[in-house]
Amino acid sequence: MPIGETVYLNGAFTPRKEARISPLDRGFLFAHAAYEVTAVYGGKLIDFQGHVSRLGNTLDAICIPNPHDAAEWETIHRRLIAENALDEGLIYLQVSAGAYETRDFAGPDLFEPTIHLFADQRPLVGEAARTGIKAIFLNDIRWRRRDIKTTQLLSQALAYRTARDAGAQTAFMVEDGFVTEAASANTWMVTQDDRILTRNLSSDILPGITRAHVIARLRDLGMDVEERAFTPDEAYEAKEIFTTSAGALIAPVIQLEDQPVGTGAPGPVTRRVQRLYYEAIGVDVEAVSPWVLA
Ligand code: PDD
Repeated sequence: MPIGETVYLNGAFTPRKEARISPLDRGFLFAHAAYEVTAVYGGKLIDFQGHVSRLGNTLDAICIPNPHDAAEWETIHRRLIAENALDEGLIYLQVSAGAYETRDFAGPDLFEPTIHLFADQRPLVGEAARTGIKAIFLNDIRWRRRDIKTTQLLSQALAYRTARDAGAQTAFMVEDGFVTEAASANTWMVTQDDRILTRNLSSDILPGITRAHVIARLRDLGMDVEERAFTPDEAYEAKEIFTTSAGALIAPVIQLEDQPVGTGAPGPVTRRVQRLYYEAIGVDVEAVSPWVLA
Protein backbone atom coordinates (compact mmCIF):
# COMPACT_ATOMS: atom_id res chain seq x y z
CA MET A 1 0.00 0.00 0.00
CA PRO A 2 1.20 3.53 -0.64
CA ILE A 3 3.92 5.13 1.40
CA GLY A 4 3.13 8.83 1.84
CA GLU A 5 4.74 11.39 -0.45
CA THR A 6 5.93 13.53 2.46
CA VAL A 7 8.43 12.11 4.94
CA TYR A 8 10.14 13.61 7.97
CA LEU A 9 13.93 13.61 7.86
CA ASN A 10 16.16 15.31 10.44
CA GLY A 11 13.91 18.21 11.29
CA ALA A 12 12.19 18.82 7.95
CA PHE A 13 9.06 17.57 6.19
CA THR A 14 10.44 16.66 2.78
CA PRO A 15 9.17 15.08 -0.46
CA ARG A 16 10.04 11.39 -0.13
CA LYS A 17 11.73 11.36 -3.54
CA GLU A 18 14.15 14.05 -2.39
CA ALA A 19 14.97 12.56 1.03
CA ARG A 20 18.63 11.48 1.26
CA ILE A 21 20.46 9.47 3.94
CA SER A 22 24.24 8.92 3.92
CA PRO A 23 25.52 5.50 2.80
CA LEU A 24 27.77 5.67 5.88
CA ASP A 25 24.80 5.88 8.25
CA ARG A 26 25.21 3.43 11.13
CA GLY A 27 21.65 2.30 10.56
CA PHE A 28 22.73 1.10 7.13
CA LEU A 29 26.18 -0.24 8.12
CA PHE A 30 25.41 -1.85 11.50
CA ALA A 31 21.61 -1.86 11.91
CA HIS A 32 22.42 0.54 14.74
CA ALA A 33 18.92 1.97 14.96
CA ALA A 34 15.74 1.96 16.98
CA TYR A 35 12.34 1.90 15.31
CA GLU A 36 8.67 2.13 16.20
CA VAL A 37 5.49 1.47 14.28
CA THR A 38 2.35 3.21 15.54
CA ALA A 39 -1.12 2.43 14.21
CA VAL A 40 -3.32 5.26 12.99
CA TYR A 41 -7.07 4.88 12.78
CA GLY A 42 -9.51 7.66 11.81
CA GLY A 43 -6.44 9.89 11.56
CA LYS A 44 -5.66 9.31 15.26
CA LEU A 45 -2.56 7.76 16.81
CA ILE A 46 -3.26 4.52 18.70
CA ASP A 47 -1.52 3.69 22.00
CA PHE A 48 1.01 6.44 21.31
CA GLN A 49 2.30 6.84 24.87
CA GLY A 50 3.33 3.17 24.92
CA HIS A 51 5.24 3.46 21.65
CA VAL A 52 7.07 6.62 22.65
CA SER A 53 8.03 5.17 26.00
CA ARG A 54 9.34 1.93 24.42
CA LEU A 55 11.31 4.06 21.94
CA GLY A 56 13.04 5.72 24.90
CA ASN A 57 13.98 2.31 26.32
CA THR A 58 15.37 1.12 22.99
CA LEU A 59 17.42 4.28 22.45
CA ASP A 60 18.87 4.03 25.97
CA ALA A 61 19.85 0.41 25.39
CA ILE A 62 21.70 1.20 22.15
CA CYS A 63 23.47 4.38 23.35
CA ILE A 64 21.56 6.87 21.18
CA PRO A 65 20.42 10.09 22.90
CA ASN A 66 16.67 10.56 22.53
CA PRO A 67 16.37 13.61 20.25
CA HIS A 68 12.82 14.51 21.35
CA ASP A 69 10.52 14.41 24.34
CA ALA A 70 7.12 12.71 24.09
CA ALA A 71 5.26 15.93 23.19
CA GLU A 72 7.69 16.73 20.37
CA TRP A 73 7.43 13.20 18.99
CA GLU A 74 3.66 13.51 19.04
CA THR A 75 3.75 16.83 17.18
CA ILE A 76 5.94 15.30 14.44
CA HIS A 77 3.64 12.27 14.15
CA ARG A 78 0.51 14.44 13.94
CA ARG A 79 1.97 16.73 11.31
CA LEU A 80 3.04 13.71 9.23
CA ILE A 81 -0.50 12.32 9.45
CA ALA A 82 -1.88 15.66 8.27
CA GLU A 83 0.69 16.15 5.48
CA ASN A 84 -0.16 12.74 4.05
CA ALA A 85 -3.90 12.81 4.85
CA LEU A 86 -3.35 9.46 6.58
CA ASP A 87 -6.62 7.98 7.74
CA GLU A 88 -5.86 4.29 8.40
CA GLY A 89 -2.39 2.80 8.47
CA LEU A 90 0.95 3.20 10.21
CA ILE A 91 3.57 5.74 11.09
CA TYR A 92 7.03 4.21 10.82
CA LEU A 93 9.77 5.91 12.83
CA GLN A 94 13.47 5.17 12.83
CA VAL A 95 16.26 6.77 14.83
CA SER A 96 19.70 5.58 13.82
CA ALA A 97 23.07 6.38 15.39
CA GLY A 98 23.91 8.71 12.49
CA ALA A 99 26.60 8.99 9.81
CA TYR A 100 30.35 9.64 10.34
CA GLU A 101 33.43 9.78 8.14
CA THR A 102 34.65 6.27 8.92
CA ARG A 103 33.28 2.78 9.34
CA ASP A 104 34.20 2.47 13.01
CA PHE A 105 32.39 -0.26 14.97
CA ALA A 106 32.46 1.59 18.29
CA GLY A 107 31.73 5.02 16.84
CA PRO A 108 32.04 8.44 18.49
CA ASP A 109 31.41 9.05 22.21
CA LEU A 110 28.21 10.89 21.46
CA PHE A 111 25.97 9.87 18.58
CA GLU A 112 24.13 12.43 16.47
CA PRO A 113 21.06 10.55 15.34
CA THR A 114 19.42 10.36 11.96
CA ILE A 115 15.65 10.67 12.37
CA HIS A 116 13.30 9.41 9.71
CA LEU A 117 9.51 8.92 9.72
CA PHE A 118 7.05 8.04 7.00
CA ALA A 119 3.33 7.38 6.69
CA ASP A 120 2.00 4.09 5.34
CA GLN A 121 -1.68 4.01 4.31
CA ARG A 122 -3.12 0.47 4.63
CA PRO A 123 -6.19 -1.28 6.01
CA LEU A 124 -5.77 -2.37 9.63
CA VAL A 125 -9.35 -3.57 10.07
CA GLY A 126 -9.43 -5.45 6.79
CA GLU A 127 -9.69 -8.81 5.10
CA ALA A 128 -7.02 -10.61 7.18
CA ALA A 129 -8.73 -9.51 10.40
CA ARG A 130 -12.04 -10.84 9.09
CA THR A 131 -10.96 -14.19 7.66
CA GLY A 132 -7.74 -14.97 9.54
CA ILE A 133 -4.23 -15.95 8.53
CA LYS A 134 -2.03 -19.06 8.33
CA ALA A 135 1.22 -19.52 10.24
CA ILE A 136 4.16 -21.90 10.07
CA PHE A 137 6.70 -22.75 12.78
CA LEU A 138 10.35 -21.70 12.42
CA ASN A 139 13.40 -21.75 14.64
CA ASP A 140 13.94 -18.41 16.36
CA ILE A 141 17.45 -17.41 15.33
CA ARG A 142 17.37 -13.80 16.58
CA TRP A 143 19.79 -12.15 19.00
CA ARG A 144 19.22 -12.07 22.78
CA ARG A 145 17.76 -8.54 23.11
CA ARG A 146 14.33 -9.02 21.59
CA ASP A 147 12.83 -6.76 24.27
CA ILE A 148 14.10 -3.66 22.45
CA LYS A 149 12.89 -2.64 19.02
CA THR A 150 15.91 -2.37 16.75
CA THR A 151 16.13 -2.63 12.98
CA GLN A 152 18.01 -5.94 13.14
CA LEU A 153 15.19 -7.61 11.22
CA LEU A 154 16.95 -9.93 8.78
CA SER A 155 15.74 -13.11 10.47
CA GLN A 156 12.16 -11.80 10.45
CA ALA A 157 12.42 -10.74 6.81
CA LEU A 158 13.63 -14.25 5.93
CA ALA A 159 10.90 -15.77 8.11
CA TYR A 160 8.25 -13.89 6.11
CA ARG A 161 9.78 -15.15 2.85
CA THR A 162 9.74 -18.74 4.11
CA ALA A 163 6.15 -18.29 5.28
CA ARG A 164 5.12 -16.89 1.92
CA ASP A 165 6.76 -19.80 0.08
CA ALA A 166 4.71 -22.12 2.31
CA GLY A 167 1.45 -20.30 1.49
CA ALA A 168 1.30 -18.75 4.98
CA GLN A 169 1.18 -15.13 6.12
CA THR A 170 3.42 -15.33 9.19
CA ALA A 171 5.74 -17.58 11.18
CA PHE A 172 5.60 -18.53 14.85
CA MET A 173 9.15 -18.65 16.10
CA VAL A 174 10.23 -21.43 18.43
CA GLU A 175 13.15 -21.55 20.86
CA ASP A 176 13.97 -24.26 23.44
CA GLY A 177 10.66 -25.93 22.66
CA PHE A 178 8.48 -22.85 23.27
CA VAL A 179 6.89 -20.30 20.96
CA THR A 180 8.53 -16.91 21.47
CA GLU A 181 6.40 -14.71 19.23
CA ALA A 182 5.31 -14.33 15.63
CA ALA A 183 7.54 -12.77 12.97
CA SER A 184 6.28 -9.27 13.81
CA ALA A 185 3.55 -9.75 16.43
CA ASN A 186 2.90 -11.25 19.86
CA THR A 187 1.14 -14.62 19.98
CA TRP A 188 -1.90 -15.66 22.01
CA MET A 189 -3.85 -18.90 22.41
CA VAL A 190 -7.06 -20.08 24.04
CA THR A 191 -6.86 -23.54 25.62
CA GLN A 192 -9.53 -26.24 25.41
CA ASP A 193 -10.60 -25.22 28.94
CA ASP A 194 -10.89 -21.56 27.86
CA ARG A 195 -7.77 -20.13 29.45
CA ILE A 196 -6.21 -17.22 27.56
CA LEU A 197 -2.41 -17.41 27.33
CA THR A 198 0.27 -15.10 26.04
CA ARG A 199 3.98 -15.39 26.67
CA ASN A 200 5.37 -13.59 29.74
CA LEU A 201 7.67 -10.59 29.19
CA SER A 202 11.43 -11.14 29.23
CA SER A 203 14.32 -10.40 26.87
CA ASP A 204 12.97 -13.28 24.70
CA ILE A 205 10.13 -11.21 23.22
CA LEU A 206 9.14 -7.66 22.37
CA PRO A 207 6.89 -6.08 25.01
CA GLY A 208 4.10 -5.40 22.53
CA ILE A 209 2.11 -2.23 23.06
CA THR A 210 -1.00 -3.86 21.57
CA ARG A 211 -0.44 -6.87 23.85
CA ALA A 212 -0.34 -4.60 26.91
CA HIS A 213 -3.50 -2.79 25.83
CA VAL A 214 -5.40 -6.06 25.28
CA ILE A 215 -4.26 -7.52 28.63
CA ALA A 216 -5.41 -4.36 30.42
CA ARG A 217 -8.82 -4.37 28.69
CA LEU A 218 -9.43 -8.06 29.42
CA ARG A 219 -8.41 -7.69 33.07
CA ASP A 220 -10.64 -4.60 33.41
CA LEU A 221 -13.49 -6.86 32.38
CA GLY A 222 -12.52 -9.39 35.05
CA MET A 223 -11.12 -11.87 32.51
CA ASP A 224 -8.00 -13.86 33.29
CA VAL A 225 -4.89 -13.69 31.11
CA GLU A 226 -2.16 -16.18 31.94
CA GLU A 227 1.27 -14.84 30.98
CA ARG A 228 3.37 -17.91 30.21
CA ALA A 229 5.15 -19.55 27.32
CA PHE A 230 3.39 -22.31 25.38
CA THR A 231 4.71 -25.07 23.13
CA PRO A 232 3.88 -25.79 19.49
CA ASP A 233 2.02 -28.91 20.70
CA GLU A 234 -0.18 -26.78 22.97
CA ALA A 235 -0.78 -24.47 20.02
CA TYR A 236 -1.89 -27.41 17.84
CA GLU A 237 -4.41 -28.28 20.59
CA ALA A 238 -5.65 -24.69 20.97
CA LYS A 239 -9.27 -23.70 20.52
CA GLU A 240 -8.18 -20.35 19.14
CA ILE A 241 -5.00 -18.50 18.29
CA PHE A 242 -4.48 -14.85 17.46
CA THR A 243 -1.68 -12.31 17.26
CA THR A 244 -1.44 -8.70 18.40
CA SER A 245 0.60 -5.92 16.80
CA ALA A 246 0.34 -2.34 15.64
CA GLY A 247 0.78 -3.66 12.09
CA ALA A 248 -2.24 -5.98 12.04
CA LEU A 249 -3.97 -5.18 15.37
CA ILE A 250 -5.76 -8.43 16.31
CA ALA A 251 -5.18 -11.13 13.66
CA PRO A 252 -6.96 -14.50 13.98
CA VAL A 253 -4.69 -17.46 13.15
CA ILE A 254 -6.85 -20.14 11.57
CA GLN A 255 -4.23 -22.61 10.39
CA LEU A 256 -0.87 -23.79 11.81
CA GLU A 257 1.31 -25.60 9.29
CA ASP A 258 -1.24 -27.92 7.61
CA GLN A 259 -3.65 -28.15 10.55
CA PRO A 260 -6.74 -26.02 11.20
CA VAL A 261 -6.81 -24.16 14.53
CA GLY A 262 -10.00 -25.14 16.37
CA THR A 263 -12.85 -25.07 13.85
CA GLY A 264 -10.60 -23.47 11.23
CA ALA A 265 -12.40 -20.14 11.54
CA PRO A 266 -11.86 -17.16 13.90
CA GLY A 267 -13.34 -18.09 17.28
CA PRO A 268 -15.47 -16.21 19.84
CA VAL A 269 -12.63 -15.08 22.13
CA THR A 270 -10.71 -13.66 19.17
CA ARG A 271 -13.85 -11.87 17.96
CA ARG A 272 -14.42 -10.47 21.44
CA VAL A 273 -10.85 -9.19 21.68
CA GLN A 274 -11.14 -7.65 18.21
CA ARG A 275 -14.38 -5.94 19.19
CA LEU A 276 -12.92 -4.60 22.45
CA TYR A 277 -9.86 -3.26 20.72
CA TYR A 278 -11.72 -1.82 17.73
CA GLU A 279 -14.20 -0.06 19.98
CA ALA A 280 -11.35 1.34 22.07
CA ILE A 281 -9.69 2.88 18.99
CA GLY A 282 -12.91 4.32 17.59
CA VAL A 283 -13.90 1.86 14.85
CA ASP A 284 -17.59 2.05 13.90
CA VAL A 285 -17.86 -1.69 14.43
CA GLU A 286 -21.37 -2.14 13.00
CA ALA A 287 -20.43 -0.44 9.75
CA VAL A 288 -16.80 -1.51 9.32
CA SER A 289 -16.43 -4.90 11.05
CA PRO A 290 -19.89 -6.37 11.73
CA TRP A 291 -18.21 -9.80 11.70
CA VAL A 292 -16.90 -9.17 15.22
CA LEU A 293 -20.50 -8.98 16.45
CA ALA A 294 -21.58 -12.42 15.21
N1 PDD B 1 6.17 -5.17 14.87
N2 PDD B 1 6.87 -8.81 18.34
C1 PDD B 1 7.62 -8.42 17.30
C2 PDD B 1 8.83 -9.20 16.95
C3 PDD B 1 7.25 -7.29 16.54
O1 PDD B 1 8.01 -6.89 15.50
C4 PDD B 1 6.06 -6.59 16.88
C5 PDD B 1 5.60 -5.37 16.13
C6 PDD B 1 5.30 -7.04 17.99
C7 PDD B 1 4.05 -6.34 18.43
O2 PDD B 1 4.33 -5.14 19.09
P1 PDD B 1 3.33 -3.90 19.05
O3 PDD B 1 2.02 -4.40 19.58
O4 PDD B 1 3.94 -2.91 19.93
O5 PDD B 1 3.21 -3.46 17.62
C8 PDD B 1 5.75 -8.14 18.69
C9 PDD B 1 5.85 -3.99 14.07
C10 PDD B 1 4.38 -3.79 13.85
C11 PDD B 1 6.66 -4.03 12.80
O6 PDD B 1 7.82 -4.41 12.89
O7 PDD B 1 6.16 -3.66 11.73
